[in-house]
Formats: sequence, C-alpha cells, structure tokens
Amino acid sequence: MSKFWSRTAREAKPYIPGEQPNESQIIKLNTNENPYPPSPNTLEAMKEVVNEGLRKYPTPTVDSLKRVIANREGVNSEQVFVGNGSDEVLAFAFQAFFEANEAIKFPSVTYSFYPVYANLYGIPYQAVTLNDDFTIDVEAMKQSIGGVIFPNPNAPTGLALRLYQVEEILQGNPNNVVIVDEAYVEFGAESAVELVEQYPNLLVTKTLSKSHALAGIRVGYAIGQEDLIEGLERIKNSFNSYTINSVSLAGAETALSDDAYYRETLERVINTRVWFKQSLEELGFEVLDSKANFLFVKPTGVEAEWLYLTLKERGFYIRYFDKPEVRGYVRISIGTDEEMERLLNEISNLLNSDC
Ligand SMILES: Cc1ncc(COP(=O)(O)O)c(C=O)c1O
Repeated sequence: MSKFWSRTAREAKPYIPGEQPNESQIIKLNTNENPYPPSPNTLEAMKEVVNEGLRKYPTPTVDSLKRVIANREGVNSEQVFVGNGSDEVLAFAFQAFFEANEAIKFPSVTYSFYPVYANLYGIPYQAVTLNDDFTIDVEAMKQSIGGVIFPNPNAPTGLALRLYQVEEILQGNPNNVVIVDEAYVEFGAESAVELVEQYPNLLVTKTLSKSHALAGIRVGYAIGQEDLIEGLERIKNSFNSYTINSVSLAGAETALSDDAYYRETLERVINTRVWFKQSLEELGFEVLDSKANFLFVKPTGVEAEWLYLTLKERGFYIRYFDKPEVRGYVRISIGTDEEMERLLNEISNLLNSDC
C-alpha cells in the first residue's frame, strides 16, 4: 500500500496467473498452453518483420488481420475486433457493455479474471451456482440485470454447453449483452459464431493462445454485430491505438491461414486428452468430460492440494484452486503424450508409496 495509490489501485484485487517457471526440466501443465510449437510458416512470418520496419508504428486498424479472421469465421470485417490477448478483449467488453449499477451474471466456478474486471470497473455481479454435476445452470443465467459472461467450454471444468443451450441464454437476456468466451472452443465444443447474425446481443471471444500455440504473442479477437464491435473500438481507441504489435500481427495472420498444421496439433491434443482421462479413471480418479485442452480431476486416496504440492516438488506443475467449491479438484493441462505418460507414472508411484 502506498500513499500515492489512487482509490482504484488501492481497491484492485488483481488476477493471480499460473506460475511460469524458467527451468526447462519442469513439466508445465498449469496454464493450458499448447504443447506443440506454432507452425514453421508462423515463425517465419514473424522473423521476416523483425527488420528496420519496426521503427514504424503498426497499423492501428489491423485491417488485414481482420480480413483473415472474417474469412475464417464466415463474417465480415466490420464484425471483428482484435485485442492484445482475449483478456484485453474481455476487459474492453466489460467497459463497453456493462454498467456500474447493474449486476452481471457469470458461473460461480469459472475463469477468475471475470470478478477481477468487475471489481476494477465497479460492476456488481451475481456468481450463479453450478448444477451438482458442475454444468452451467442455463435457466439461472437468464434474466440478468446487466449482462452475462461465461466460457464455453467452461474453465476450469472443461464442460461445454450445447449450442441450443447458449441460444437459450441469449433468448433469456434479450436486452443485455451475452459474452461467450470461446478460449478453448477449438478443442471440441460448438462455436456460437454462427448465431451472431441472428442475435444482436451476442459477443463471442476467441484467442490464438491455446489452439494456435501463440500465448506468447498475445492475440485474441471478438465476433459480434457491427454496433457491438464499434463499441469495443471506441473503448480501445480511448485507451491505446496500437494494441497489436507488428510481430504479433504477422504471426496471427499467418497462423490463421495455416489451418492444416493447427488442425493436426488440435487432433493430437484431443487424442492425448482421451487416453489420459481414461488412465486417470483407471486409477480411480473422477474426471469431468472436458472439451478443452485440460482436465478437471478429483483424485481419490489423496487430497487434491497434497497432490498439487507433491507433484510440484517433483517437477510437475498443475493447478489447484483454493476455493470452497473446487477444493477437491486439480486442473491438469494436456501436454505431449510423453509428458502425460511421465505424469501418469509419477501419480501411480505416489499412490502406491506410503507417502
Ligand atoms: C476462459 C479463458 N478466457 C480467456 C483467457 C485469456 O486468454 P488470452 O488472454 O491468452 O487470449 C483464458 C486464459 O487462460 C481463459 O482460460
């Protein structure tokens, strides 16, 4: 605390990101990164722009990246907004569409950045309790006062709503914006982008951080009808004209045009998730039916927190959330087959030893 801090700085409750250890021997399965590298074309495109041209500002309107995204998503460029990671897109969306005196709704177990933004902007919220099976309570997400946000698939559960359920939430909130955060959609859930034409209150956000193995370049985007996108542009241009740097622009454009490569890596992650889930179940663990690149796991025979701490000591980083509803669970990102085999061995050894 400093006497120089504004009230906003004093009252902020910042998000605590997963650890980013530097040691290369660590098997890092705690922040849902893609275990495979970006495509060679993507890396080449970024290297090409690292030249004297960097003395210039990047394009503030990111028109050509918007065209690539529009083409991929089957919308027009005016329906696309690009941000410095989808976190930034979400932060702008909270400012553009939610009000300080109108409570928004999001699930009680969800991406922990939502309450952070709400707190920062003074937006009240109602954390909607999940169903007993950890699915989002669709009925309870209707009739919000100020708006709705949820990830699909949800994090950290990995459970996805079907498209008709997302549509029910949209219909149940006709006068408020519903943000569907599709950070993990490419790993097996249904995207709501096809509903954008029909629902003026829908904003879908996506990121290149997970599906395109580009968490390091910070590019995310939103799809919505033109007036929602204009609202986001108004906030962005009141904050920073050049949110996307030239290197990220080149990488994102190439990655989104390099579909075959990324489709293959997505398949590999999904296949690993399937066998790893089954192997954990064979150990007696309870594993939710994830459509994302991570699994939400309830260990049996050992405490979740103990498992998290013990694995960390042994060089395996997974995620544990010290919150009442999920204290019995850990979240494990899907790595390569080799990484998951080593983790499985370590867990089996721990269960078999007298620890
Ligand atoms: C549900 C969800 N939404 C959004 C993000 C933000 O991703 P990024 O800012 O890397 O695009 C994350 C990151 O972990 C996430 O889990």
